[in-house]
Amino acid sequence: MTKILLVSSPKGGSGKSVLARHLMVSAAQDGISVLGVDYDRQSTFCKWGERRKATRVKFPEFVDAEVVHGDLKNWRSSIADGKEKSLLIVDTPPSVEDHLAAITQLSSQSDMILVPAVCTQDDMDSVAPWIQVMIEHNKNAVIVLNRANRRTTSFARVRGRLIKLAEVCPVEIPQLEDVHVPSSKGLTLLDYTKSKGQASFEEIWAFVRRRLGL
Ligand SMILES: Nc1ncnc2c1ncn2[C@@H]1O[C@H](COP(=O)(O)OP(=O)(O)OP(=O)(O)O)[C@@H](O)[C@H]1O
Ligand SMILES: [Mg+2]
Repeated sequence: MTKILLVSSPKGGSGKSVLARHLMVSAAQDGISVLGVDYDRQSTFCKWGERRKATRVKFPEFVDAEVVHGDLKNWRSSIADGKEKSLLIVDTPPSVEDHLAAITQLSSQSDMILVPAVCTQDDMDSVAPWIQVMIEHNKNAVIVLNRANRRTTSFARVRGRLIKLAEVCPVEIPQLEDVHVPSSKGLTLLDYTKSKGQASFEEIWAFVRRRLGL
């Protein structure tokens, strides 16, 4: 049975695509057959997958992580295309108001939802109502704090407020200046033997994997 992991947030730039591609690579490195589905018309996730495919022609040692583009209006057909896979990782656009019916239907069909949130007041203002919508449709909705710095009071304030609303992933993604660098070749921090931030993504994947029973 294919598991669906939905990554959703109404806030642009909160880290949906960064999280989706790192989880793709983790899953593939663990030998899980995984397909990425990109419902965002900007195709950030899909373009990353295309660059990865091109990189793998020369360097096939990087694990395969295919991403396809999908149309949210016809979300069921992209999901059906991945029925041979064990896991679908679904990236979504920030414009949730334009696609509310599709995203809420998709969320109720998903096995788990991750809602990334940067630790700022602005992100909290949009994530707080959104996680409540997600929880109404799926109890397995978890906030992942991004660009986090545990030493700041803003981190403690944001975490303290969000934890009253929903489950917060025990591992957060720190501020990582170089997180975008490997993306130009369709890679992630997890494709290198040692890089800062790797452990956070590995631990988030371990949390997700256990939750999904994979
Ligand atoms: N932990 C981090 N540290 C530093 N930069 C980050 C981090 N997470 C994301 N970014 C950067 O923030 C930008 C937005 O990230 P990303 O594209 O993943 O967000 P998104 O939620 O998918 O955005 P959109 O809603 O526009 O699709 C990117 O340039 C990315 O490299
Ligand atoms: Mg994105």
